[in-house]
This record gives sequence, structure tokens and C-alpha cells, in this order.
Amino acid sequence: MKELMQKLRDASLQAVSQAPSMEMLEEMRVKYLGKKGELTAVLRQMGKLSAEERPAMGQLANQLRGDIEAAIELRRAELSAALMEAKLEAEAVDVTMPAKELRQGHKHPMYNVLDQIKDIFIGMGFEIQDGPEVERAEYNFDKLNIDEGHPSRDWTDTFYFTEDSQILLRTQTSGMQIHAMETRELPIRIVAPGRVYRKDEVDATHSPMFHQIEGLVVDKGVTMADLKATLNLVVEQLYGKGTVTRFRPHHFPFTEPSCELDIQCHKCGGKGCPTCKGQGWIEVLGAGMVHPKVLSGCGIDPDVYSGWAFGMGLERLAMGEYKITDLRLIFENDERFLQQF
Ligand code: DAH
Repeated sequence: MKELMQKLRDASLQAVSQAPSMEMLEEMRVKYLGKKGELTAVLRQMGKLSAEERPAMGQLANQLRGDIEAAIELRRAELSAALMEAKLEAEAVDVTMPAKELRQGHKHPMYNVLDQIKDIFIGMGFEIQDGPEVERAEYNFDKLNIDEGHPSRDWTDTFYFTEDSQILLRTQTSGMQIHAMETRELPIRIVAPGRVYRKDEVDATHSPMFHQIEGLVVDKGVTMADLKATLNLVVEQLYGKGTVTRFRPHHFPFTEPSCELDIQCHKCGGKGCPTCKGQGWIEVLGAGMVHPKVLSGCGIDPDVYSGWAFGMGLERLAMGEYKITDLRLIFENDERFLQQF
């Protein structure tokens, strides 16, 4: 029996120490130490021994069980270390590998110009006002003294939502003047940038959607001199000191008197060149003194208060600033174009 036990010791310890995997190790544990295992088989034969021999054999058997268990634990630790090693190797990160190039975007060139304009007006005490792109005809036209029958109200010019032509995509930001006068305390100094929509075919200078910036000042004693001085200051900050301007009479239903502001072409100094289309002047915006009818329609007494307003096209300004010759480039978002700015 002693020899049997010795044989079992040699065979089991060797097999365990060389078990190639966790699964095989478990199989061996069952094979040697399990209920139907080899050690149990040897122990079954204890009955054949004399009473004197039994304790010594029992002790030997216990020792063997302990040794096999220890050998299994040792092998388990070795195998698990090897597994971890293999895993680390497989998941290794090569920190010397060159990183993927990160492509960072930037603000759209048109919004750079908008930010510049907002900064100029905020610096002069104006506030920025946001408002709806879906508008009522009342605000887009009527309250701006643009009566029924005015050509700009035609179905072929305007995107209406309703059959009765009452709800539409705003055709101008001028309706923001009304919103400002109806909701704000006097005096008012606001600029309201935003999208506007007209039924225009797309070409190099037209788009059915574009951006305007509306401005409005209402206070006591406001005159055309304030309008001219303020807009001249804005032009100087946008185009540089010494930029020559001219205020040309014009007509808008919601201002009286009305004008357009031109700047002398900064490219040719007024001689005429492709930038100014041979004119020597570039039209920048429409403006005027707020019509008394518009003021009183908003509950403001035109005998006490007066105001001036302006509206300019943002795309046109951006095109001038960045020498962009085709309006479509601004909206197509072709990276080859945008990356230049
Ligand atoms: N809303 C006008 C347009 O779309 C531009 C304009 C002209 C705005 C004169 C004004 C203004 O505020 O006073 O053509």
C-alpha cells in the first residue's frame, strides 16, 4: 500500500506540475482527489490493513492529499500568471506609434463677420435681440406700413404657410423693430441678426435664404445726425479709419426720410473696378428715420419720441470682407472653400 501511495504521489505531482491549462488542471484535481478519484481508491483499501498499520497509512494519505492540493494551487498560480502575461501582450499599446491627425474645425467666415458687427454695436450700448423666422404678415408687413397690394407681399415673392397669406417665413428682419417696440422699455437700442426668406432663384448673388442684421434706436430727440454719426462709426470700425461714405436718398415704407449708405470702393478708391462693378461705390445698407405711423402703431408717441433704423445683408458684407465672388460658396460648406479662412 505504501508503494501504491508512492506511485500515486510521483504520478500526480508530476502531472499536476505540468498541466498545460486551467481546464486540464481541473480534470486532474477530479482524477486524483475527487470522490471517485485515485486517492479515494487507495484509501478504500485501508480496510485490509491491520489496526497498527492504519494510523501511519492514514497520516501518509492525508499528507499526500495536502501535497497534491498544494501542487494544484501552485500550478494554478503559474497558469494564471501566464494567462495574464499573454493578455497584456495581446492588448499592448504601442505608445511610439504616430497619433492620428486631429482635424479641428473653426467658425464659418460669415459668422466671423457677424461677431465683429455684434461686438461693434455692443460696444456702443446696443443689445442683441432674437426673434421668430416664422412670422405673421402683420409684423412682416402691416405694422411696417407695407400695405396689402405692395409687390413684396406677392405669392411669387414670399413663402406663405397659409392660404390667407397671414403666416409666412419672414422676408426681412425689419419686423424685429415692431417686436422690440412692443416689448421693450424706452429708450431702445437693439440689433437683431437672423435668417430671412424670399422666393429667389439661386445664382451667384441670390439665395432663397440669407441673413440680415436689423438695427433700431428709439429715444427722445433722436435725429438723422445720430443715424449718420453712428453708421459712419460702424463703417470706420469695419472698413478702417478714413473710409468715405455717402448717404443716398431712397424709399422704404417704414422710414421717412429713407436712405441707402454706400462706401467708397476700398479697392480702387472710387475710380471704378470689378469689386465695385465699375461704380466706385459699394452699397452697404438701407436706413432711415422710423416712420411716425410705425411708432404710433406700437403705442409710441411720435411727437415725443423719434427713432432711426437700418438693415443690412450679412452675406454681402462677408463677401466684401473675404473677396468671395459667389454667394453659393457661403452655403455649400465645401471644406476646400472653408479651409481658406
Ligand atoms: N428691410 C429692408 C430690406 O430688406 C432693409 C431696411 C431698410 C431695413 C431701411 C431698415 C431700414 O431698418 O430702415 O430691404
